[in-house]
Amino acid sequence: MAYGQFEQFIRNMSRVMGAVNTKLQRDLTLRTRVARRFSMVEVASLLGVDTTYLTRISGEEPLFPEGERRGRERTFSPSEIMLIRALIGSNKAAKRPYLYWRDQDTPVKVVTFGAQKGGTGKSLSAAHFAQYVNLHYGLRVGVIDADPQATISLYFADEDLPLFEQDTPTLADFMGVDDPGAQRLTNRSAAELDAIWQSSPWPGVKIIPGGANIQNGDISLFFMSQQSQVPVYRVLKDAIATWDQGNGPKTPIADLRDASGNFDMVAYETALAETVDVIVIDQQPSLTLMQLNGLVAADSVVIPQTMKGFDLATLATYVSNIGEYLEFIMGFEADLEIGAGEHMVLPTIVQEQNSQDTDQILDLYRKAPREVMQVWYSRSDAIANAAEEYKSIYEYLPPKTRRTSAKAFMTNANAVNDALVQRIWPDLPPRDFAKTFIEERWS
Ligand SMILES: Nc1ncnc2c1ncn2[C@@H]1O[C@H](COP(=O)(O)OP(=O)(O)O)[C@@H](O)[C@H]1O
Ligand SMILES: [Mg+2]
Repeated sequence: MAYGQFEQFIRNMSRVMGAVNTKLQRDLTLRTRVARRFSMVEVASLLGVDTTYLTRISGEEPLFPEGERRGRERTFSPSEIMLIRALIGSNKAAKRPYLYWRDQDTPVKVVTFGAQKGGTGKSLSAAHFAQYVNLHYGLRVGVIDADPQATISLYFADEDLPLFEQDTPTLADFMGVDDPGAQRLTNRSAAELDAIWQSSPWPGVKIIPGGANIQNGDISLFFMSQQSQVPVYRVLKDAIATWDQGNGPKTPIADLRDASGNFDMVAYETALAETVDVIVIDQQPSLTLMQLNGLVAADSVVIPQTMKGFDLATLATYVSNIGEYLEFIMGFEADLEIGAGEHMVLPTIVQEQNSQDTDQILDLYRKAPREVMQVWYSRSDAIANAAEEYKSIYEYLPPKTRRTSAKAFMTNANAVNDALVQRIWPDLPPRDFAKTFIEERWS
């Protein structure tokens, strides 16, 4: 029988894969995770202050981190940058906020990166967005990896993250659809849901790693949709709301200091871990029920999209399928609020040398100026190299030959994320990264 051979092949490969150490390749990246350090000048720029001010504060604040000294240069890790931000931001004399944490009345924001096609830069865009708002605004971020391939998890994983282990909970567990044979949702309390998040080496960034059992979620949701009244499209939206009710912000920034103005390190560590300000969902390239949940749960949807003709055809399919789903949902539950925020198509891997890609963007933008972003990710060798090590441009340590192109891509990433922030949080103070990009490209 023909399938006998295939079965034998699968058996052999399973045996081989059980014996090879697939972790070997990953170990180096995981061990050196977030090894990049930032100079005083870079930290000042992240905080939006000048270097003289930062140097003065470093002398005045007893808890200002030492950093690492090499000659006259002092460098800081992302965790140290977050602490510096909190020290300055909690100072009664601060003239403006430095930590843009949400207040008790604001529900968690959900931003989903999704597209029909693979390899359009969804995971990279989502990872850069999460790290950008962490580095530039001090936001606490929850990253949900909705892809069984777990790409974005690799961008955040260090050796402590139990990635690809059988009993590591995934999005399917968070949604209560981890048992494909179950008749109904597993209801988890806010505390049980909170325990599913894993910590990451980034300060205030938690993650629900991806994994194969996300597919169980689809099987489970499918059967539930067949036999009961379970609203299978809003399971994630409801789970996030339940989590948020029990795990919202508790510590106001003013409480990071005691009555006599001393910084309270314990209160700071507690506050950094007690909630997240935004949840970033990285979708799998498809529109399964699990992925539909990622869209329905979102305040904002970002569609990273390459500009080639055939790729754009996948965008047409994606939006028309979503449209059909939405119509179905509205028929079921007309008053469900979906996607109250801004949504946008983000052009990615744009080849600027030939004008085909940029002409395509121009054409799309003219027809849909709200929907299509004026800022895009250009094709970059530096990021392709960084991606091979599962590193974002914010933590990539380029070899000498790639320093210029790495710097250019960091400028590019800042522009894209500045533009996203302006749409997603109109109240946050913008930087001038997007403005500069637009002036350079569009005039
Ligand atoms: N701006 C870019 N320039 C060059 N290569 C890119 C760029 N963005 C993404 N890539 C390449 O595409 C691959 C897929 O990116 P990824 O973010 O994983 O896509 P997706 O999540 O949509 O499948 C990356 O490994 C990287 O090599
Ligand atoms: Mg991906």
